[in-house]
Amino acid sequence: ACGSAPSGGGEAAAGEDTITLGFSQVGAESGWRSANTQSIQDSAAEAGIELQFSDAQQKQENQIRAIRSFIQQRVDVIAFSPVVETGWDTVLQEAKRAQIPVVLTDRSVDSADTSLYATFLGSDFIEEGRKAGQWLVDQGDTGPVNVVELQGTTGAAPAIDRKEGFAEVIAGAPNIQVVASQTGDFTRSGGRQVMEAFLVSQPDIDVVYAHNDDMALGAIEAIEAAGRVPGQDIRIISVDAVKDGMQALADGKINFIVECNPLLGAQLMDLVEAVHAGEQVPARVVTEETVFDQQAAIAALPTRLY
Ligand code: AHR
Repeated sequence: ACGSAPSGGGEAAAGEDTITLGFSQVGAESGWRSANTQSIQDSAAEAGIELQFSDAQQKQENQIRAIRSFIQQRVDVIAFSPVVETGWDTVLQEAKRAQIPVVLTDRSVDSADTSLYATFLGSDFIEEGRKAGQWLVDQGDTGPVNVVELQGTTGAAPAIDRKEGFAEVIAGAPNIQVVASQTGDFTRSGGRQVMEAFLVSQPDIDVVYAHNDDMALGAIEAIEAAGRVPGQDIRIISVDAVKDGMQALADGKINFIVECNPLLGAQLMDLVEAVHAGEQVPARVVTEETVFDQQAAIAALPTRLY
């Protein structure tokens, strides 16, 4: 597949027809991310695609380095999930010059030149934020509702968009106010630390809006350590619907979860095969997602894969 150029495929060299895919993952920051990585690895193996997998440990410079190395190895296709939205044009231009198609997955980039990538497969994060806000508005609280927000990684598309979608919907309910908002970097420890600080600095917290389950789980630890009851004294809304989050929802510690589906592997491999074959692909492929309350979580848990 890589012609006469070195494939970087290691000893068990791929055959001439085997597609080599260089994939740069964000990191291993959350349960969602682990499920996403597993899905990509399993789906590549199933599709007979040789996967060069690189973990960026949530650092953009590591992703740029990985992409440059994929270009040097002359992989057939590059896919990546950009840790932040900005700052990709130079390296994407290098891939374009090398005529290696790029597929964005999970998160997008803010490049004005959309010819720098073939397609973007992933969730509509603004819509996820709207669904989270809509649930809260639908609770019909009449008195003031003070919300603290645990943001995802600063500059990451899901952090920017989930904030925006939520803010858009609660703007219609003046009694709901976000009184504090800070990043917990999509990690459990980050969520716990920020929540501990909020519990000290904010005299009256009614709701936590966490941009992912891991941060919500960290917040639950902080709330319990402060002697309060998560899900009752303080309601919790989060995004993802990974198993640990769904268990907390079933247990009444989280009140509502907006799903973000990490099982993108099979669709990604289909797109990789199509762009490699020079076929037309849609510029945007949006993932189908739902929402869960406690009853829905109890029903879904026994068959939840991640
Ligand atoms: O980009 C998807 C987000 O990244 C998930 O919601 C979060 O858990 C992950 O770290």
